[in-house]
Amino acid sequence: MAFDNLLLERDGATAIVTINRPKVLNALNAQTLDELRRVMLDLKQDDRARVVILTGAGEKSFVAGADINELAVQTPTGGREHALTGQHVLDVIENLGKPVIAAINGYALGGGCELAMACTLRIAADTAKLGQPEISLGIIPGYAGTQRLSRLVGKGKAMELILTGAPISASEAERIGLVNRVVPAADLINDAKQLAAALAKNAPVAMRYIISAINKGLEMPFAEGCVFEATLFGLVASTDDMREGTRAFLEKRKPEFRGS
Ligand code: COA
Repeated sequence: MAFDNLLLERDGATAIVTINRPKVLNALNAQTLDELRRVMLDLKQDDRARVVILTGAGEKSFVAGADINELAVQTPTGGREHALTGQHVLDVIENLGKPVIAAINGYALGGGCELAMACTLRIAADTAKLGQPEISLGIIPGYAGTQRLSRLVGKGKAMELILTGAPISASEAERIGLVNRVVPAADLINDAKQLAAALAKNAPVAMRYIISAINKGLEMPFAEGCVFEATLFGLVASTDDMREGTRAFLEKRKPEFRGS
């Protein structure tokens, strides 16, 4: 699959997707969003890829938001379609059924912060800056930032970040739960690869169900989420990997999960 604005590499069972528009700090234009959608749908079906890392090209930026050249000329109906398209692409990422690790190598602003929040886990370089600066452009987040940020960090912090538009440091983002961990910038990709390699050893079906139970369960009343979890708990018992995992424990060896 050929892309103009993305790079796709493999590191064992990890697929590494790099958004590659460094001259504009990897801003997301319509073409890049569409390429992201296509690569993610492809990786969803690809059993070789058990984990995905998403990062930005260059040292300065993960993604500095939606492309402001396109925002500047959008119409009301075009703006609505644009937001729905962005929301759809991020939804594909959030529900890919395998872990997607955002390796935040610099600015994650606006659509870049929203993109990172749609990932399953977030590791940030200590030099990264995160925020939702849309208010300074006279607009509001449109890729579900108002929804995901308030779910991740709580209503009060989400209001503060979105209403002020002020970016925060990686360490502040870790403190409020916006990123999972912060590492020295020079170690970012290696640490993300190590985490990905560790996750790639886990049973793929169990990981898919965990992601689904948490994502879908959060949208349900607690009791319904518990019933959904119990159903997935039962379903996972149909897998060879469940038999392998439990048998390996009893035989005092490491399991080898095959994804079936
Ligand atoms: N869309 C389009 N182009 C963008 C962009 C975006 N979201 N973010 C940065 N760029 C472009 C700049 O216009 C500049 O292009 P130029 O070299 O042709 O002038 C280039 O990327 C480098 O950015 P620059 O602003 O010169 O870098 P900086 O280090 O001074 O500042 C930022 C970095 C991230 C603070 C600044 O670029 C910025 O505020 N970007 C917009 C962030 C934003 O509001 N995102 C939300 C959009 S909804």
